[in-house]
Amino acid sequence: MGTAGSGRLGDVKETTAGRPPLIPSQEPTMSYSSLSGRVAVVTGAASGMGAATAKLLAANGAAVALLSRREDRLKELAAEIGAAGGRALAVPADVTDQRSVDGAAERVAAELGRVDLLVAAAGVMLPNPVDDGRIDEWTRMIDTNVTGVLRVVRAFTGDLVATAAGGRTADLVAVSSIASHVSFPNYAVYSATKAALTHLATSLRSEFGPRDVRVSTVEPGLTDTELGAHIDNPSLGLDGQLGAMFDAIGPLSAEEIADVIGFTVSRPRHVNLRHLVVLPTRQA
Ligand SMILES: NC(=O)c1ccc[n+]([C@@H]2O[C@H](COP(=O)([O-])OP(=O)(O)OC[C@H]3O[C@@H](n4cnc5c(N)ncnc54)[C@H](OP(=O)(O)O)[C@@H]3O)[C@@H](O)[C@H]2O)c1
Repeated sequence: MGTAGSGRLGDVKETTAGRPPLIPSQEPTMSYSSLSGRVAVVTGAASGMGAATAKLLAANGAAVALLSRREDRLKELAAEIGAAGGRALAVPADVTDQRSVDGAAERVAAELGRVDLLVAAAGVMLPNPVDDGRIDEWTRMIDTNVTGVLRVVRAFTGDLVATAAGGRTADLVAVSSIASHVSFPNYAVYSATKAALTHLATSLRSEFGPRDVRVSTVEPGLTDTELGAHIDNPSLGLDGQLGAMFDAIGPLSAEEIADVIGFTVSRPRHVNLRHLVVLPTRQA
């Protein structure tokens, strides 16, 4: 899992039509020493931004619970983090299943202790025209991107509030999307789930902020991950509309989003970077 992306990024550097490449070859190298000793849960840790964030947090001294459904990926990442001198725990979990989330929370508590940092990155993006009536995809996106985040927030709220009450830094980071603000054909339901998530985080800030739990919303633009690989409509996927966006814009890397998250959660505890929109420079 050397790169968290889908492999499109390499192509884009060479094919961005008629203009010199904008994407540097090196990955972000910032370090955040204040993360040492923190206990983090990252959902969506099997790939993309979640995997990159877990690696960054662990490299900076946090113990990290890796949550998503693919146990093999999580074990591979935990081993990679361990080999690099970090601490990570693979916790297979499905955020659409309450019992699975409850079981994961119990395991994290038993093996890592109280959680003080939660990054909710698990998500699915399944575009199709609304006329197609894909209630299977609508349900899956709502269950994962909205209710799934709520399940995870509920599971770790007690830990976050107790951490903050004890005078230590406590963070909830919601990975939403620029799609919460812009409309894009065929992405109506995905965009609606992300708008709901952004607004949910805004509301949670009013509940948690007064108790010193920081809530940050990160809204990435086009980023090179596995997200587009689940699109079942060829005209919209990596060989169609989405691929054309990759070629025209050039995506961010998962590591660049992880770097923004790392910066956000390593500020002094009274400083809340509450809403970050992180786009490739060429994305309008
Ligand atoms: N890539 C972009 O351009 C972009 C832009 C804006 C926002 N985002 C958002 O960024 C977040 C991270 O996505 P990504 O781009 O890094 O894509 P990704 O590589 O596909 O990562 C999504 C992760 O979510 C996990 N996941 C999906 N359903 C789950 C479930 N039911 N329970 C637990 N985990 C689940 C997946 O692992 P398993 O399959 O193993 O469960 C996967 O590791 C998402 O919320 C996405 O909406 C992405």
